[in-house]
Amino acid sequence: MRVMVSEALSDHDMEILREAARILKNGGLVVFPTETVYGLGANALDERAVRKIFEAKGRPSDNPLIVHVAEPAGAEKVAFVPELGIELMKRFWPGPLTLVMPARSVVPEEVTAGLKTVAVRMPAQRIALELIRLAGVPVAAPSANLSGRPSPTDAAAVEEDLGEKVEIILDGGSTSFGVESTVLDITGERAILLRPGGTSLESLAEFFGYTPLQAGAGAPVCRRSPGTRYRHYAPNVPLFLREDESVWGKVAAWEPGERAYIGIRPPAVPFGCVRLFPDVQTYARCLFSVFREMEKAGAKVIVADWPEEAQVGLALRDRLRRASGGSVSPE
Ligand code: TXA
Ligand code: MG
Repeated sequence: MRVMVSEALSDHDMEILREAARILKNGGLVVFPTETVYGLGANALDERAVRKIFEAKGRPSDNPLIVHVAEPAGAEKVAFVPELGIELMKRFWPGPLTLVMPARSVVPEEVTAGLKTVAVRMPAQRIALELIRLAGVPVAAPSANLSGRPSPTDAAAVEEDLGEKVEIILDGGSTSFGVESTVLDITGERAILLRPGGTSLESLAEFFGYTPLQAGAGAPVCRRSPGTRYRHYAPNVPLFLREDESVWGKVAAWEPGERAYIGIRPPAVPFGCVRLFPDVQTYARCLFSVFREMEKAGAKVIVADWPEEAQVGLALRDRLRRASGGSVSPE
């Protein structure tokens, strides 16, 4: 069931959130909006509930989940929070920064995929925060898409992928970032960026006074995010990246009417469908929904512009690389 909820949190909205919180407490699944993408949530301390997430998504069970909390104190219940974690939370929470920290034993293996660490974040979205607060439990939630598909940035995309598999979809409109949170491992001496995302590497570098090492760029293998091994975020038609101008030759095999283009710079050859964005933030926000849109419109091939690496461009490059089937880390 899909229900509209607004961030204004009217009495009616609160009633719906109380019902959704009850579902979570009773071991059910609730889809909720965050500032990044929609999440498929379950009580993080209930292993049976968490198992339902993996079933609904068709997700490999060795890919751990992010635990969502409504306040920094919530993180202490699932993780041993180091001093550095407290400082990071003060600076970046609520917001799209997930912290990987040593896990407490209350966190079931289903959440951590057997790792000794747990990933925790506090989303900057009032509906999400109120839901977690009302449920009174930490909420484990991956993106609410079928495994491998583009992450959902609106409730319609969730319905497409998960439909009847969840009890309630809280429809809070389109998400504001469009790419997932940044995942940062703070268990070692130096922070390691496991997944670039909504919190920029530049802002983390400013905080630390050094640029965190990026997984795959010389970071030890055991400190990589398990999820980065999989092909992800992919539309169901071939995707080529405009890393250089050889891309036009690669798509010449398709008729112009079958070709779709997404990006900031206009394409150099004719395309049946062209979606251009004024800046990299808007490109990132719209990427996943435009993938789905283009598939539905019958595109047979998609070309995506290659953005500058600065700010959210780093995360956008990562998602594009994965969506095109290319490997990001050397494994
Ligand atoms: O923005 C987001 O982070 C969204 C919203 C719903 O919060 N969630 C999300 O979850 O993107 P998911 O499951 O699609 O991605 C979680 C990422 C995966 O790459 C996973 O491997 C990594 O976080 N992760 C989770 N727990 C970890 C851990 N203990 N150590 C290392 N990586 C972990
Ligand atoms: Mg995901």
